[in-house]
Amino acid sequence: MSLVKVQVNVGKLNEFQEDVGKAVEVQGHSIAVFRLPNGRFKAVENRCPHKAGPLSEGIVSGEFVFCPLHDWKIGLKDGHVQAPDHGCVKTYEVVVEGEDVCIMI
Ligand code: FES
Repeated sequence: MSLVKVQVNVGKLNEFQEDVGKAVEVQGHSIAVFRLPNGRFKAVENRCPHKAGPLSEGIVSGEFVFCPLHDWKIGLKDGHVQAPDHGCVKTYEVVVEGEDVCIMI
């Protein structure tokens, strides 16, 4: 595994609506990208640890997303599933440069 990350452009700022997830493909990984009302972006693996629900289609509340399949609550900051469920998803750093939204991978 390489420790050197690359920055991959996944779209323009105006392609991301607040509190609506967007699925992007980066180097074979499906990643759910979220634009939060505070202007921050979060990105997590687009696959719920329960039964692989597409997190990009989940309901966003604050810095959490609720899986569209069975409503598990997952933290967008750290990828941790909230109690009473457990598990975690991989998180990715998002960099915004001008109008470009990029994932570090
Ligand atoms: S697949 Fe996400 S809660 Fe079941």
